[in-house]
Amino acid sequence: MKKDIQNRADIEKFVKTFYEKAFLDDKIGFIFTDIVQLNMDTHAPKIINFWETILFDVQKYSGSPMDVHIAIDQKVELEPAFFERWLDIFERNIDEHFQGEKAEEAKKRAKLIAILMESKVEGFRNKTRLNI
Ligand code: HEM
Repeated sequence: MKKDIQNRADIEKFVKTFYEKAFLDDKIGFIFTDIVQLNMDTHAPKIINFWETILFDVQKYSGSPMDVHIAIDQKVELEPAFFERWLDIFERNIDEHFQGEKAEEAKKRAKLIAILMESKVEGFRNKTRLNI
């Protein structure tokens, strides 16, 4: 039986394996490799802090993920299908390594944030007046 996500080391593991898959993905990989040329040495700690803040209620991450993705969307339109694929990889990757309450919470929170992010990004792109 797989174990649940219990600590920062577990988060490090799923973040590492998530990006291994994301970089190689045929639909969204190019965003990480070509559009942003993500440096994982600086990016990974941010993402690990992000998930530690979400899952273990500690104040580690401070940043503006919505603004960061709005900026990416200016370079390449983040289509709904891209968010679907991102979530697909995320959920598959969690299920591959973990099982339990925190694992379920991680997938649920990722989905909620993805929905909000997609709406924010699209709203900004279309200059929607209402900031919802
Ligand atoms: C289409 C889907 C997505 C793509 C292609 C994508 C891509 C990226 C890229 C390329 C960066 C690095 C930006 C930079 O450093 O210049 C980034 C940062 C980040 N992403 Fe995403 N992302 C997606 C969805 C999500 C979702 C759904 C979440 C949360 C559940 C998320 C969380 C983050 C966080 C926390 C950062 C770091 C922000 C910071 O610098 O403080 N991303 N993303």
